[in-house]
Amino acid sequence: MIPVAEPKLGGNELKYVSECISSGWISSLGKYIQKFEEEFSNFIGTKYGIATSSGTTALHLALEIFGIGKEDEVIIPSLSFIATANSVEYSGAKPVFVDSEPRTWNIDPSLIEKNITKRTKAIIPVHLYGHPADMGTIIDLAKEHDIVVIEDAAEAHGAEYKKKKVGSLGDVGCWSFYGNKIITCGEGGMITTNNEEVMEKAILLRDHGMSKEKRYWHPQIGYNYRMTNMQAAIGLAQVEKIEEYIAIRRKNANIYNKLLEDNKNITLPIEMEWAKNVYWLYSILVDKIPRDEFARILLENEIDTRPFFIPIHLQPPYEKYGKKRLSVAEDLAKRGISLPSAPTLKRDQIEYICGIINEALS
Ligand SMILES: Cc1ncc(COP(=O)(O)O)c(C=O)c1O
Repeated sequence: MIPVAEPKLGGNELKYVSECISSGWISSLGKYIQKFEEEFSNFIGTKYGIATSSGTTALHLALEIFGIGKEDEVIIPSLSFIATANSVEYSGAKPVFVDSEPRTWNIDPSLIEKNITKRTKAIIPVHLYGHPADMGTIIDLAKEHDIVVIEDAAEAHGAEYKKKKVGSLGDVGCWSFYGNKIITCGEGGMITTNNEEVMEKAILLRDHGMSKEKRYWHPQIGYNYRMTNMQAAIGLAQVEKIEEYIAIRRKNANIYNKLLEDNKNITLPIEMEWAKNVYWLYSILVDKIPRDEFARILLENEIDTRPFFIPIHLQPPYEKYGKKRLSVAEDLAKRGISLPSAPTLKRDQIEYICGIINEALS
């Protein structure tokens, strides 16, 4: 079976993790945490990086840092992984779902303003499947309405908007290092920011709100959202290879594009002129036959695929906010499918996959 995703652990992972074990520093103190935070935030181009236990906890922490909670509203795209909305729900605020832009599949910036109310405190653009959201428009709107921008960059390590890396553009960037991501720690996350106050608050809240000056003094309720030294050791080894892993994904996307571009029943992923797409998952839209039938044909040929996310406004826990029709997100969710995208993927495998696809959708 050719997998949709699998990690490439081809660098110093084993060496660094072994060092954690032989030194006894396996918990959430140890040199790799700071090193990983420094190296990753350097790569993104922010002053600070604060490692967390997951991408979901990074998002929740970000909302807590800005004091977002009950009575507040947070604008998010409906077409995302459910963690984007769940983090808002954990904070006590209400997620407000916005439809997608049909070419990039990201939040449609032209629909944001009409969803802004007096209660709107934040917007969480998601850089879906590796393509950046239209950050210029989003940041302008946020400035105009005094709204915080929390980038959900879980799927877009190294993606760029107008030559600047995502995760450095909003007030904070939130990252996931789950096993299928562009770089991984197994499980893990990070907040990146240029704001010193945000960094201080993140450190406080990820460790039970414990005061920096006085041990076991907790001026506010915090969380245990810490990353372990062992996770950070893997993360550091992965950052050392990040440029290479991104280059492989972009090269593979190019091969897919060339082999599928003549097929009239496929919409290829886009790279807007202002964007660098990192193709976390190389994804297409299929016509002619139902997406699930298409997936079944590929599976019969030992090719794994992944359907698009089901829009969050349609998920049972979010029905309480009322029925909404978000026609672009719903259509993308029906036709969208992610193809094998792992950095371990070889050219002959892509040729084989595209051969099966072009036959199925001829
Ligand atoms: C868009 C998006 N946001 C948030 C998350 C949550 O990250 P984690 O699984 O590390 O909690 C993920 C991925 O898993 C994601 O794809």
